[in-house]
Amino acid sequence: MTSQHVKIFDTTMRDGEQSPGASMTLDEKLELAQWMDAMGVDVIEAGFPISSNGDFEAVRAVAGVVKESVVCGLSRAGAKDIDRCWEAIKGAARPRIHSFLSTSPIHRKHKLQMHEDQVIDAIQFSVTHARNLCGDVEWSAEDATRTERDFLRRAVETAIKAGATTINIPDTVGYSFPQEYGAIFADLIENVPGADKVVFSAHCHNDLGLAVANSIAAVMAGARQIECAINGMGERAGNAALEEVAMALKVRGDALPFTTQIDSTRLMRASQMVSRITGFPVQYNKAIVGKNAFSHESGIHQDGMLKNAQTYEIMAPEDVGQGGTSLVLGKLSGRAAFKDKLRDLGYELGANEFQDAFSRFKELADRKRHVYDDDIIALVDDQIAHSHDAYQIKRLRVVAGTDGPQTAELDIEIDGETKWTTARGNGPVDAIFGAIRALIPHEAKLDLYQVHAVTEGTDAQAEVSVRLIENGRVGVARAADADTLVASAKAYVAALNRLAAKRQRGPDAQESAA
Ligand code: KIV
Ligand code: ZN
Repeated sequence: MTSQHVKIFDTTMRDGEQSPGASMTLDEKLELAQWMDAMGVDVIEAGFPISSNGDFEAVRAVAGVVKESVVCGLSRAGAKDIDRCWEAIKGAARPRIHSFLSTSPIHRKHKLQMHEDQVIDAIQFSVTHARNLCGDVEWSAEDATRTERDFLRRAVETAIKAGATTINIPDTVGYSFPQEYGAIFADLIENVPGADKVVFSAHCHNDLGLAVANSIAAVMAGARQIECAINGMGERAGNAALEEVAMALKVRGDALPFTTQIDSTRLMRASQMVSRITGFPVQYNKAIVGKNAFSHESGIHQDGMLKNAQTYEIMAPEDVGQGGTSLVLGKLSGRAAFKDKLRDLGYELGANEFQDAFSRFKELADRKRHVYDDDIIALVDDQIAHSHDAYQIKRLRVVAGTDGPQTAELDIEIDGETKWTTARGNGPVDAIFGAIRALIPHEAKLDLYQVHAVTEGTDAQAEVSVRLIENGRVGVARAADADTLVASAKAYVAALNRLAAKRQRGPDAQESAA
């Protein structure tokens, strides 16, 4: 790699998972990690192994399947944390321990209750310990941007001497301006002994909406790794969005002579996958991956676009894998065409999964005249997400309309046994959710119920997101169906499945933050 290569370090599964309600299962982490590996992400931060047994197992599983990317686990500065992290990642082809400690005065005083010398000793100890286990060690100065510059230099020098190979300078609270953040890197790179032997990394939070700008400023000042997350997931306002960083460097190669190895055509799927897994919708006007990012509404813009797309587009939708409007298959389409389409969309299904997906596609094509790429993505994602669920909707019949009462008649399979009930409600959705509550008693509160149309038109599939909260545990799920009420029932039951899985995993499955 040339020194102009900027490594992309993805933290969707660690910092991103720290967004309240965004926790991911082991299978979901595996699916995402494999996609990122194929997309060319240099480093995948798969989790924080000591935070829970579930996270430990997920990081270990990711380490076992990723082929090209470095697989990294986060740890605090203690030996127990670092050992646990190493246990989880040591099976990776290319493992990395990422250890962090706060350096700012406010964190030293209130969070760590440590003096400067104690912090320095802890850095020396933790990096040495990590380096004795693993040849690739990243050290982060948490809250670096609010740290006195001379102390930050001392901390970084200590970490480098102890064997760190990457030095991360996080803007933990999203406080910096680009010129300030760049100046910190320039200073460290110029003045810290050994700085030329390590890779400097940017890790920016988006509290002031500056995470991507700050990351680019860091690269201009000498950083060669950017830590970011798909859809900008992360603590509070999130991290720098991976897709924005990757496309900024790609599109503005004229101004910035840096490259990444990201296959940008995979960005859209990555975004959809993260949105489906976390239940966090992508805002319509989100840069790069938003539904409207390549839409042109005004007459003047449309006229320009028809004459030459470059009049209003600085990149083509295909560059980022946005091709959602193409008409794909219809009811006469066969297996070969469907298989081809799945391959184009990035799915690799086993024989049974393919058969199920094909049957569901045929059912959809019978009900819906035009089947678009987005329909197929919703259909297959729905199948992948719910095929192993313990509770499955078998049949739903709803009476709705101006003359009440609205009623729902529902069959649910619970651990292989089908149960039936009927319920009335204040509207059809209320009746359905009441019937589900009767068959699967629970205390969970409904925190979010959201309906989106997958494509245009009155025959569009509905995609419903449901978030349930029960004793601090969050169950998020999304389901799609040509019938909005069926999608609602499926999403609610899927969220209950997520909660049930967390209950089984025990107290350790509570949402936890680093
Ligand atoms: O924002 C931050 O400081 C972090 C560190 C743990 C790297 O996420
Ligand atoms: Zn962070």
